[in-house]
Amino acid sequence: IECAKQMGESSILRQANCRAKGAAPGFKVAILGAAGGIGQPLAMLMKINPLVSVLHLYDVVNSPGVTADISHMDTGAVVRGFLKQEQLASALTGMDLVIIPAGVPRKPGMTRDDLFNINAGIVRTLCEGIAKCCPKAIVNLISNPVNSTVPIAAEVFKKAGTYDPKRLLGVTMLDVVRANTFVAEVLGLDPREVDVPVVGGHAGVTILPLLSQVKPPCSFTPEETEYLTNRIQNGGTEVVEAKAGAGSATLSMAYAAVKFADACLRGIRGDKDVVACAFVDSQVTELPFFATKVRLGPNGAEEVYQLGPLNAYERAGLEKAKKELAESIQKGISFARK
Ligand code: NAI
Repeated sequence: IECAKQMGESSILRQANCRAKGAAPGFKVAILGAAGGIGQPLAMLMKINPLVSVLHLYDVVNSPGVTADISHMDTGAVVRGFLKQEQLASALTGMDLVIIPAGVPRKPGMTRDDLFNINAGIVRTLCEGIAKCCPKAIVNLISNPVNSTVPIAAEVFKKAGTYDPKRLLGVTMLDVVRANTFVAEVLGLDPREVDVPVVGGHAGVTILPLLSQVKPPCSFTPEETEYLTNRIQNGGTEVVEAKAGAGSATLSMAYAAVKFADACLRGIRGDKDVVACAFVDSQVTELPFFATKVRLGPNGAEEVYQLGPLNAYERAGLEKAKKELAESIQKGISFARK
């Protein structure tokens, strides 16, 4: 075992040297919660991503196994595993992007808010590590309830004096991915041709698809609007119920997380016009955080876009969304300030 370990280590060194000699430039990415239902397929997909040169896999259990497994893939990124709190600092140091899918998922009958008591503490601890070890990293926060965990992360960073609102992004991409799929089904289009903005937050009525702004331009009957809005808002619950106690969305979430992380990395690289929806520090409404389209650049969310024209159905949905969001945001802030 020792021998294998040494060989593993030397192969990592060889790969690292290769990169230092001018192989493809890439970014350093850490996944916190890498051994979980989302973490494992997310790690696999990031290992394939050509923009990633170094991939750190951190978890409180099972990260050595996942790391050994993923590291055998013959793609460019060098993979290293980190286990338990004492290795968190090493996992985070030098990272450009940190993706956080750590925490418990829902079971049937639970709301995302029911996860608050466990996940709030996990997110706080991990963000304290980020503030200390890689305060300039861009953070993609997946752990639910996103509507509360993003405000918690912001408070932790404020307390540490490292808060940069542009660098903290709550991942709502799965709502957009679902919306594109369901709308494409109704329109009889390829989902890759469809773009549905989804704004607000990431739970129940706070998930607000703007069907009046779908591209390509189209129109829906009131029945279609009602059906699509409900299905997009309850897409997560659809999966939780189908999995019948075995967790929530993991595979589609890993896909969505990579789609979003890839957009962030292209933004850091300086690509122009990289736009995606995310839950961020925002002045679009009176709430301190809100999900809208943002333009991603070298520092994260460089520009937060306005909502654009809403129809009467969406304006009513927005009022409902804001009411619930305000409470979830406040719950996160109060927890972090306690
Ligand atoms: P899971 O239970 O399969 O995996 C979670 C992983 O986090 C486990 O490997 C666990 O060991 C690890 N973990 C627990 N405490 C940790 C800590 N202190 N530090 C590092 N790792 C820790 O759960 P799954 O299905 O991967 O979901 C993870 C989270 O993502 C849940 O909170 C879930 O609600 C959320 N989620 C968010 C979505 C979104 O759209 N933003 C969509 C789907 C899930």
